[in-house]
Amino acid sequence: MIPKECKRLAEVDFPIAAVNAACSRENNRKSRTESRHISLLHTWWARRPLASCRAILLGILLPNPTDPLCPEPFKRNARRILGQFRKIGDTDLELQRALLAFIAEVSDADLIRKGIYIAAARELVKKAWDETPHVFDPFAGGGSIPLEALRLGCDATASELNTVAWFLLKITLEWSARKGPDLIDLFEKWSNWVLREAGHRLETYYPVDDKKRRPLVYLWARKVRCEAPGCGVAIPLVRNLWLSKESGHKKALRISYQNGRIEPEIEVFEPEKDNEVSQGTVSGFKATCLRCFQVTSRERVQVQLREQQGGAANSILLAVVRKNPDGREKDYYQPTPVDLNAIQKAENEAKAIYIEMPATPPSGDTGFRPRAYGITNWVDVLTPRQKFSRWVIYKVIEDALKEATKEVGDQELLAALAACLYTVYSLNGKYHTSLCLWAASHVGSIFMNAPGIPMRADFVESSPLSTNCEGLADGIKSVKSALQGLLSIRFKPSSPIQADALEKILPRESAHVLFTDPPYYDSIPYAHLSDFFYGWLRMGLKSWIPKVFDPPETEKAVEITKNLAVEDGGGRHDAKWYENRMAAALSQSREVLVPDGIGSVIFAHKSTEGWESLVSALIRAGWLVTASWPIMTEWSARMRAKESAALAASVHLVCRPRSEDAPIGDWSEVLRELPKRVGDWMERLQSEGIRGADLVFACIGPALEIYSRYSKVVDAEEREIPLGGDPEATEPHRKGFLAYVWEVVGHTALEQVLGTAEAKARNSTAGALEEDARLTALFLWTLQSTNGESPSPQPSPKGRGREMGDSPAEGRGEEVEEEEGDEEEESPKKKKQGYSLIFDVVRRFAQPLGIHLPEWEGRIIETEKGIVRLLSVKERAKQLFGEESAQAFAERFERSPEVSLQLKLFPEGERGAAPEIKGHKGRKKKAIGAVSDEALRGRQEATTLDRVHAAMLLQANGRTNALRALLKAEQDRGPDFLRLANALSALYPKVNEEKRLLDAMLLAMPRT
Ligand SMILES: C[S@@+](CC[C@H](N)C(=O)[O-])C[C@H]1O[C@@H](n2cnc3c(N)ncnc32)[C@H](O)[C@@H]1O
Ligand SMILES: [Zn+2]
Repeated sequence: MIPKECKRLAEVDFPIAAVNAACSRENNRKSRTESRHISLLHTWWARRPLASCRAILLGILLPNPTDPLCPEPFKRNARRILGQFRKIGDTDLELQRALLAFIAEVSDADLIRKGIYIAAARELVKKAWDETPHVFDPFAGGGSIPLEALRLGCDATASELNTVAWFLLKITLEWSARKGPDLIDLFEKWSNWVLREAGHRLETYYPVDDKKRRPLVYLWARKVRCEAPGCGVAIPLVRNLWLSKESGHKKALRISYQNGRIEPEIEVFEPEKDNEVSQGTVSGFKATCLRCFQVTSRERVQVQLREQQGGAANSILLAVVRKNPDGREKDYYQPTPVDLNAIQKAENEAKAIYIEMPATPPSGDTGFRPRAYGITNWVDVLTPRQKFSRWVIYKVIEDALKEATKEVGDQELLAALAACLYTVYSLNGKYHTSLCLWAASHVGSIFMNAPGIPMRADFVESSPLSTNCEGLADGIKSVKSALQGLLSIRFKPSSPIQADALEKILPRESAHVLFTDPPYYDSIPYAHLSDFFYGWLRMGLKSWIPKVFDPPETEKAVEITKNLAVEDGGGRHDAKWYENRMAAALSQSREVLVPDGIGSVIFAHKSTEGWESLVSALIRAGWLVTASWPIMTEWSARMRAKESAALAASVHLVCRPRSEDAPIGDWSEVLRELPKRVGDWMERLQSEGIRGADLVFACIGPALEIYSRYSKVVDAEEREIPLGGDPEATEPHRKGFLAYVWEVVGHTALEQVLGTAEAKARNSTAGALEEDARLTALFLWTLQSTNGESPSPQPSPKGRGREMGDSPAEGRGEEVEEEEGDEEEESPKKKKQGYSLIFDVVRRFAQPLGIHLPEWEGRIIETEKGIVRLLSVKERAKQLFGEESAQAFAERFERSPEVSLQLKLFPEGERGAAPEIKGHKGRKKKAIGAVSDEALRGRQEATTLDRVHAAMLLQANGRTNALRALLKAEQDRGPDFLRLANALSALYPKVNEEKRLLDAMLLAMPRT
């Protein structure tokens, strides 16, 4: 047995870089059908990579060999077991290194397939423990953690509130292991039966054309009436009339109204010139009539669509996509009467069908926007033909199960078969709704932009019979691949429990390890989203798993998420509610743990408030943080889609139950220890490639290690210093510990980037670069991303933050899908470019570093809807050079460089007159705080950053002489200009227009 005081491996070290690489490989591969990854079984949001779960689990299960209390027999055995992989030196340190290297290897999906690695891992665990360790996960979700626990030979208890997730755990952890090969064989047989039978029953509804070509998908548009007086034509809501811009294969739509008719004629044609193709009829849900060109407002479009329950049933067919035998996989065709008749036939059949589905999520915090357009029940997302074919497939599965019952006596096996067939049905459902989008060559699922679900004006209807556009066959392949993957693991089955994490799920002191990945604050409204799947599963499984699927919808009242759309379960689900429930849940799991047990809690959220809420809950629940590891759990393709500080990492906090008699901490001691600990940690993480926001949040770990050692931390007057507080306050007991953590991180970052003077600077400390330089540097520093590429400036993020820790969908093809322009917003073209960060993050850094954000509003930043955007250098041109262009300025400057550059750059000031800085005039955007006139005047002098930007603009305009003169003047002035320019150059992403300008400008710097 490992003594309580003996540290576990992950409490002292962890192979971060190697595990990160393994996670990235897994994420990039898991969506391929042949990968056999468990996520292919079905969508669940926020699935963690198996690689990181496995590696962390081994790290917390095994003792650290350099610990004096590490049992000798374990060390001997470990040497023997690891000896088969590598030569190990005699010291404990070398053994420790070998164990870490082994953990790195075990995280790799390919190596783990080789039996000897997993056998060795299991043996190591066995040798470290006298009994089989028991791992508990009360927020088990899709089951990555319990699955890895079982793979390593542990006992595992997976518990989960949500029925859909519980059901997926049932297949993953229990049925696949209990029924193994029999289940796969049966699934293979009956899924093929379903495919064939569905093909027979549905083929006339998705007719072939005269060349016997099957349709792949159909393109549709919702419809409203033009409200211009005397017009009233039907407007198909199509964002873009182009179907294909591929040269030589151009296709587009033409909408016309013949002879005073009010229904449109829609034609698929081959434009010869681009100007033959009109603009789309809808943008931001404002509809333009192509007859009278009147615009119907978004509000009216909403009203009209509400009257049609979202309008899926009244939509107009635009085009049919079929394979083109002349070389193109997918081509666009005009719908034929045969196509239209088939649709009509399905529509008639659908009238007699009743499908019971849950209500859709309320608007607001759930991010479900179609509700405002009348989609109030999940059945409203279907077109009549989709409703009909979903019903037919359901009936086919029922019939398959009736037939199978005649052959199979084992009731549990039959239930498992039913579960797998309906899993295909549910999984496939997400590609068969009127909220799916045609993404050029594949169908984007309804959850493509999850957790937010936008309304779609036009949409794609896939054929369930298509073989490569998310037809039924794709769903079958996907589920089969997941089952095969599970079968290959060979583990003891474990029955999942369906419970609220606050319940007494296990007896006191019955688990050795708590390893869990709780819901992340407001990231994902699991229950609300999952009702879509729940409805489909319930339809088929109510009779097979009756109690579980009795309720009409999934449980929301006690789901621990910040979600203001939910009011029951003891109050509004606000930040406080989340924190209280999470604290109660984590304290419940502490009870379940043996006194010498260990825990790991995963968390990723890009807001400081999300973090404060979770860690406050953890500390209140009596946990002591002993280590923390940021692990890149997100996939890289998704990183590209991120517009602001992208979190690629989730932090794995390693924790122990804090003993009842933990000492009281002295605040001054805690504060003294903090900078060193955080500084060292940042250095270590940077050496492992962790950057930007990931680095910021990863520093919470070591900070908590200091703070959570104590039962409480008090100042000299015995006032308790809480974890979170008011960041604006000055006294520690009001401000809270975490505010100091952000401060230390900010200082350390600035020190690295600009140097000591800036890090210490408050207001205008002599020798320090001005506030705007510090703010810009911090901005760029925070935006660096861990995968090595800083994000390119993107349109500002929309209101609702999206969670990096969470995969929006696990389906094929979706991972590479970048977010489509949200149709309800203005068109992306109009969005402003620039780097952006959440206001709260900027504020928390800026304040302790003596940066007064309001003063820079409009000058180097712009704050809107809680997002701060760094203005681009080009946007600053007018501000820096007045109404004159850089060109005119350069001319003036070339004429008399000495005069104009001595003190200030801005041209208007014949002196006395301070330069006109545009951003200061109106400051209409946001007055975050008052700025004194004096301060304003001071700020109107050109700063070092202004001069660097001016030089970049001169460079951009090719004004070599002016630039040279300016650089010369700067050189005479002192080192700051060059220092800042070099620092910024190092912070910009490698491929970036501003960096290019800056570097070119630096090359022009005269050599001394
Ligand atoms: C971050 S996810 C876990 C994902 C999981 N680790 C995986 O890899 O698939 C958090 C889970 O907590 C569940 N949950 C939310 N509130 C809960 C509660 N009160 N009790 C138990 N589970 C809850 C959600 O349904 C969700 O599945
Ligand atoms: Zn009109």
